[in-house]
Amino acid sequence: MNFQDQIPNFLHGVARLTAVPMVLAAVWLANTPLAAAQTTEEMIKAGEKVFRTVAEIGCASCHGDYAEGDKGIGPYNRGVGEEKIRAAINSIEAMEFLKEEIHDREIKQIAAYYYWLGELQLVKTLAKRGRFIPDSVQVYPGTKIQLVINNSSPFPRSFASGNMGIKPLTVPGRESSYFVWDAPQEERVFTLSCTNCRIKDQALSIEITKSARKHFSPSAGKVAAAAKAPAKVAAVRPPVIADRQAIELGRELFLTAGEVGCAACHGPYAEGDVGIGPYNRGFSESKIRRAIAKVPVMRFLAGKLSDKQIKQVASYYHWLGGHKLVKTVTVGGRFFPARIELHPGTPIQLVIANRDRKSHEFKGPVLGTVPIRIGARDAGTVAWVAPATEGHFTIGCSDCSGKSAKLTIEVTKKAGKFVPNGGN
Ligand code: HEC
Ligand code: HEC
Repeated sequence: MNFQDQIPNFLHGVARLTAVPMVLAAVWLANTPLAAAQTTEEMIKAGEKVFRTVAEIGCASCHGDYAEGDKGIGPYNRGVGEEKIRAAINSIEAMEFLKEEIHDREIKQIAAYYYWLGELQLVKTLAKRGRFIPDSVQVYPGTKIQLVINNSSPFPRSFASGNMGIKPLTVPGRESSYFVWDAPQEERVFTLSCTNCRIKDQALSIEITKSARKHFSPSAGKVAAAAKAPAKVAAVRPPVIADRQAIELGRELFLTAGEVGCAACHGPYAEGDVGIGPYNRGFSESKIRRAIAKVPVMRFLAGKLSDKQIKQVASYYHWLGGHKLVKTVTVGGRFFPARIELHPGTPIQLVIANRDRKSHEFKGPVLGTVPIRIGARDAGTVAWVAPATEGHFTIGCSDCSGKSAKLTIEVTKKAGKFVPNGGN
């Protein structure tokens, strides 16, 4: 089975750099003695800039725009310390190229930025047609939050609050930006709304309540386990002969149900990549039904999907669960990661995210006989099954500036075995 699709652009919003004065950045790149005088705040700002831009790709392309691990390539990184960052640059294959591209000073700046991120609770919402998805969030009293607004519209949208005491924020079209806000100690409700959307009467409500979960700062110790994809349990259910049409219809519903699709919260590939809803690949029909009935932010979907449509979504989820998700990012013809190992016989869903400002054409045996074109800052996906024997396959970009770079898919018994729909 082979299909390709183009994922809606809004899911790939990228944070703006408005907070970073260019002058500062220039000082750092030059690495002058002036650097020593940098305050913590300046270190954080410089770190944010390095995080987004280093080696053209930025840590963000693999670790998520807010270091929340939402791209499915690198893990959650908020609150991770300098030692771990150095160890990662020195030992992780996908990050090897950074050794030559990052200065010691920049590592310290990223560490300052990561520490700052770790102290902030990340809260995300998607603004779509004047609505907020989700439209309510709960925050524990006294928590410092980073409120990220993803703007799904192609036009800039402005957001303001009458009671939060924050300056209005304009988010460029199809990008994201954020407020940092200290929630007060007393329990009360705050609201934020869009000031120039077509529909203006909708609001995001931020409820300060002791029944909210407390923010756990990873800087204070252990790893933020909750942010990781659930561990796969090895109970494999017998394969269901998938009805291709049900899968296709399910995929359509996944992208469009209730106008926003499950994708708006669970990520374009159900990998939990938006940071609102969790990893969902391979989840069963009964889990889907229970979630629609019980999860407060999903309640708007109740009654919107017929019994048959829920079954279709479940078929699509089953298909997703049967395919290992493999992601790569391309910038200027280079692939990150540039090498992927697969166990023989593994069915994969390969996602190629094009970070360039131009569309590009990709080809290679894995993509079938016809090359695929992926739009600027968009992603394309294709399904493929690795052969039963060892070998390697390459994918290249035919019209990128650096044409020689390739993605190599190595089929080897050394790679870990994939467990389809494991225990979900
Ligand atoms: C091309 C993709 C890619 C880029 C770019 C990248 N990383 Fe990574 N990073 C990864 C992957 C993949 C892992 C996880 C590897 C593993 O678990 O085996 C990782 C792991 C890490 C870890 C270890 C996390 C832990 O909990 O142990 C840290 C820290 C880290 N990266 C920091 C960074 C920083 C800082 C940058 C930018 C300077 C960066 N990474 C850029 C892909 C990337
Ligand atoms: C507005 C955001 C949003 C949308 C849209 C949404 N979900 Fe969810 N979903 C969530 C959140 C948040 C959770 C986690 C709730 C929790 O853990 O308490 C969740 C949980 C789930 C779970 C349960 C996961 C588990 O661990 O048991 C399933 C299954 C699920 N969603 C499926 C779907 C499907 C299918 C759709 C589309 C028809 C959808 N969701 C649309 C936000 C959303």
